[in-house]
Amino acid sequence: MRVGVINGPNLNLLGTREPSLYGGVTLDQVETLVRAEGRSLGVDIEWAQSNVEGELVNAIQRLGQSCEGLILNAGAYTHTSLAIRDAVAAVAVPTVEVHLSNIFGREAARRQTVLADAVIGVIAGFGSTSYLLGLRALYSRLARA
Ligand code: DQA
Repeated sequence: MRVGVINGPNLNLLGTREPSLYGGVTLDQVETLVRAEGRSLGVDIEWAQSNVEGELVNAIQRLGQSCEGLILNAGAYTHTSLAIRDAVAAVAVPTVEVHLSNIFGREAARRQTVLADAVIGVIAGFGSTSYLLGLRALYSRLARA
């Protein structure tokens, strides 16, 4: 089984970026944790990060072809990007939306996710563990299918 993990803008700065909100773990460390969880489940991980909206659309299209499921933290594009929402809907592989912070408990603009109707579920608020929970949830969905 192969799962794509796609990270949006500013997530490359994890570790130093607003640590009170996002913690002190770097994106490389999150990748290491996700790959280890993948190994324990027998899942190969394809990892991507971009700060550019169109590149995220390209990554969703590309990994949507080569993977059976996706985990997506679209960063701030979560709240604005119909292009990213449409890409998720277009590739039609099960996608779990993840967030480090609890977007539903933050400012009004962040409580909205335009991706929500295109994904199978949302996990938010558990720091890097959101990614691991997302992977497990996706795995159980894919293993059942
Ligand atoms: C985020 C939440 C977004 O609102 C924010 O713009 C991010 C990170 C999170 O993982 O908590 O960049 O997606």
